[in-house]
Amino acid sequence: MTRDTEIFDIIRRERERQTRGIELIASENYVSDQVLEAMGSVLTNKYAEGYPGKRYYGGCEVVDLSERLAQERLKQLYGAVWVNVQPHSGAQANMAVFMACLNAGDKFLGLNLSHGGHLSHGSPVNFSGLMFHALEYNVREEDGRVDYDQLEQVARTEHPKLIIAGASAYSREWDYERIRRVADEIGAIFMVDMAHPAGLIAAGLLKNPVKYAHIVTSTTHKTLRGPRGGVILMGEDFPNPWGKTTPKGEVKMMSAMLDSAVFPGTQGGPLEHVIAAKAVAFGEALQPSYVDYQKQVQLNAAVMAEAFVDKGYKIISGGTDNHCMLVDLRTKFPDLTGKIAEKALVAADITTNKNMVPFDSRSAFQTSGLRFGTPAITTRGLKEDMMPWIVNLIDRVLGNPEDEQNILKVRQEVNAEMVKYPLFAW
Ligand SMILES: Cc1ncc(COP(=O)(O)O)c(C=O)c1O
Repeated sequence: MTRDTEIFDIIRRERERQTRGIELIASENYVSDQVLEAMGSVLTNKYAEGYPGKRYYGGCEVVDLSERLAQERLKQLYGAVWVNVQPHSGAQANMAVFMACLNAGDKFLGLNLSHGGHLSHGSPVNFSGLMFHALEYNVREEDGRVDYDQLEQVARTEHPKLIIAGASAYSREWDYERIRRVADEIGAIFMVDMAHPAGLIAAGLLKNPVKYAHIVTSTTHKTLRGPRGGVILMGEDFPNPWGKTTPKGEVKMMSAMLDSAVFPGTQGGPLEHVIAAKAVAFGEALQPSYVDYQKQVQLNAAVMAEAFVDKGYKIISGGTDNHCMLVDLRTKFPDLTGKIAEKALVAADITTNKNMVPFDSRSAFQTSGLRFGTPAITTRGLKEDMMPWIVNLIDRVLGNPEDEQNILKVRQEVNAEMVKYPLFAW
């Protein structure tokens, strides 16, 4: 077959884009060459519906080994008792939990999307909000932290069957103990979606939700630094069996219900090449050097947040405990929307995303905020001394977002510096 130059040229351009710029999207990272190699392997050819040892296809003995390895490494990483490594994405992992724990129309409680929550925690345009009755809690306006009083009050009056902690744009540690207490009080299942801080948690730098929640979900591609995908985990104390009866009338164990909710409930054949790449990433996360990496992610974020504050920006909650931060542009540039800011920064090869801030006066399409994160630049090798330099470049762009000459000058400085941080071995 002739080489598909059209698509490989596009891939080359994307590799160049990733290499020349400063990547500040909080949910992105650069995987290792081994993760890429496993993902691009012959394992993509294999159908393996079912689970290791119980497949619906022949010839699965080899992929069984890699899926088991992924499971064992993931258990070790978080001290989990049971895991499922098949969800194709974070949203798929969440969908499986909903399917296992709730019936259509049941109430559940999650963080308000415009206060940092995720689509799959109850947005009206997502399955979670369309098929189930979504209730929400907020962050407090005065300090940008989760309003646990409000969470408890909604839980006690509405009696949701499931309470979700976890967010897409929240820079603080969670009070899992407090949420677990109210969940126990009302008989709800407590789920933590640790997609964003999963890598910091694996490195022991933030509290491990597996110790507090009945069920934990995650993506594997953010701070964790694996291939795109999802996982589900459970710790020691999940009720087993849970007591929910299946359509056939049997009472099933929660682990079995979650397994069936992933396959055949919401997915078909697992992506065994991605599962092998997850195994590689979990193996990397078990190495001592991974803790150094995550410490640097956290330090870079803290220094970056401080540099923003020094320049007169407002950071929601005043700082960060993890890898990300949400900047409210209104204090420094009241007329600048997140949409325009994102576009100007991208033109300067600084990639970030517009984001609503809590109690935003603008819509989700315009926004008053930008979200920044340090996982990718830290993988690239940038240390804390470079964070004020980055913030200064951002400030120069945002001060004159329409000035093309100014943007070009910043872009040249970005490109000249980033050449010093090689990215891919190939
Ligand atoms: C907290 C949280 N959960 C779930 C997801 C969904 O992950 P995916 O995009 O892999 O479906 C995200 C993605 O940003 C997230 O931030």
